[in-house]
Amino acid sequence: MNNKNHKLATKLIHAGISPDPTTGAIMTPIYQTSTYVQAAPGDHKGYEYARTQNPTRTVLQNALAAIENGNHALCFGSGMAATDAVAKLLAPGDEVIVANDLYGGTYRIFTKMFANYGIKFHFIDMADANNIRGYINGNTKMIWTETPTNPLLNIVDIAACAAIAKEHKLLLVVDNTFASPYLQNPLDQGADIVLHSATKYLGGHSDVVHGALIMNDAALEEKLRFIQNSCGAVPGPHDCWLVLRGIKTLHVRMQRHCENGEKIANYLRNHPKVGKVYWCGFADHPNHDVAKKQMRGFGGMMSFTLKDDNMDAAMNVLKKTELFSLAESLGGVESLIGHPASMTHGSIPREERIKNGLVDSLIRLSVGIEDADDLIADLEQAIG
Ligand SMILES: Cc1ncc(COP(=O)(O)O)c(C=O)c1O
Repeated sequence: MNNKNHKLATKLIHAGISPDPTTGAIMTPIYQTSTYVQAAPGDHKGYEYARTQNPTRTVLQNALAAIENGNHALCFGSGMAATDAVAKLLAPGDEVIVANDLYGGTYRIFTKMFANYGIKFHFIDMADANNIRGYINGNTKMIWTETPTNPLLNIVDIAACAAIAKEHKLLLVVDNTFASPYLQNPLDQGADIVLHSATKYLGGHSDVVHGALIMNDAALEEKLRFIQNSCGAVPGPHDCWLVLRGIKTLHVRMQRHCENGEKIANYLRNHPKVGKVYWCGFADHPNHDVAKKQMRGFGGMMSFTLKDDNMDAAMNVLKKTELFSLAESLGGVESLIGHPASMTHGSIPREERIKNGLVDSLIRLSVGIEDADDLIADLEQAIG
């Protein structure tokens, strides 16, 4: 079923899905096959080889396109595989303007892999989109941003970036992993490509690693599909099925992530031992107005520092939480706590991190959907 007029909650359950034609199974089967029989060369049912197409993946791609209000989606074996595919649109000599607060793995693939192929990356503060203008030259091809950013929850004005991208004929890529399509649809704000680590909120249960790209333009989709098929970083059908199952509850999970997030952000802000709390739902967040304009809620991701601003104090909290498990990743139903400086963002040089506000004592929370009182009690006994 694919009805563009359906609201998100309906699309999450039904978009792209129809009962299995052979059995009527309501749930999309896992087509665990590597190839498809042809009646004669070229005479097939739309599927030739599973690196190129798989019916479980097709259904997921159609569902993802629908929930991001896009025309096309492509799935990958991880969020990084999706990032890799987009970067392969570039050629030696090209330049990219990138938000300076972003997932450490994205920083790593740009600086340690693609920089070797002669592509130049400018990491800049995008809190004011106009900063982008100073870095555009004849070689610039792409603007790359996350919003909210990982881990400092900065907000970037997608529509303002899109206007600059359009003016200079650049591609605007928005990593929408933190917000998920429940809170924000970057294509509606003028982005060209939306990227997801579906490992996070889309999958939602910390049981799959998966990535996706969603776009409107057919020519761009064709180029990315060519890269997907040529380079082969495709997800298996079981992983596609897990994401397909995950997205059916995205709206109810996200609603609770937002409610719990607000309670915990306010609790932390009033705690005498807590220093700064980074959460885009605070009215005094520097870009709260932009967040209100482009998002439908503020989510369950946040970071904070301790007034006793040193590594040992932070480590002490990380060791003591019980419901908040110390782990990489985010966006699952269970609450996670992390230390960006040594974990998710360990690949960013220290001076670079500190310059951008990612201090050694920063603690990141992915607030899950447990009872908020229990989560607060856990933080209370850990922070002391
Ligand atoms: C914002 C963001 N983008 C991309 C990725 C990479 O995704 P994956 O781990 O699925 O490769 C991550 C992973 O943490 C992330 O947080």
